[in-house]
Amino acid sequence: MRSGQPANSEANVLIDTHLHLDFDAFDADRDEVVARAVEAGVHQMITIGINVETSRRAVALAERYEAVYAAVGVHPNEAHTWTPEVDAELRALAAHPKVVAIGEIGLDYHWERVPPEHQHLVFRAQLRLAADVGLPVVIHDREAHDDVVRVVQEWVSEAGVGTRTGVFHCFSGDREMAGRVLDLGFYVGVDGPVTFKNARRLHALVAELPLDRLLVETDAPFLTPHPYRGRRNEPAHVRLVAQRVAELRGVSVEEVARATSHNARRLFFKLTSVVPGRPE
Ligand code: NI
Repeated sequence: MRSGQPANSEANVLIDTHLHLDFDAFDADRDEVVARAVEAGVHQMITIGINVETSRRAVALAERYEAVYAAVGVHPNEAHTWTPEVDAELRALAAHPKVVAIGEIGLDYHWERVPPEHQHLVFRAQLRLAADVGLPVVIHDREAHDDVVRVVQEWVSEAGVGTRTGVFHCFSGDREMAGRVLDLGFYVGVDGPVTFKNARRLHALVAELPLDRLLVETDAPFLTPHPYRGRRNEPAHVRLVAQRVAELRGVSVEEVARATSHNARRLFFKLTSVVPGRPE
């Protein structure tokens, strides 16, 4: 879709709300990866922790690169690393001005590397943490739809989190689940798989969800979109996700960029002391 506007014009700015910039897949060329993203109009990106060590690294990267923000948390597959000391350190990291979310947290019944009961305990502890520190959450849900929604539902009604809700990262549920997620005030994260030919159910969903609840993500270095599938993913490729979302909805990529960037600012950047971009 041609627009006549350069990729970095204000109307076309994208925010990659989920990547793992600290992973060693980026060790050789991290500076170039960030520079290429900014050049491609990806003016902010959120690098996500999966345990306390990667959370520390995420904060260090946010300090090093202006365009990079951090989320800190313990992934369900890392839930065995959870201790009171980790809880305390995440709370300390969350006070950093460039930490914009707690995540990724959730439940993973696909790998079940950690017994589900323990995953639940760690998930709930971090939801409490997020409410305490006033940050939104980035949710990982793999083959655990009903349980994740139920836990989040309880959290929303108990903690009264208001507009500081969160995102279901790389949403993989059906239309009925999407309805429940939207009712909870949450956002739906869309990644590289939306560019795959056979992702018909996801295509139908992305075409009909309200645009003011969509976020675009890469999950780089994973989930590389077409036509780069099989290679390492990187944040600049979030534009391919936005382009496919635009095609599916029959709107311009600028409209998707404007809406998803606005959504990302509303969810992640509202109450932080750093306010990127210009007010809309
Ligand atoms: Ni991830």
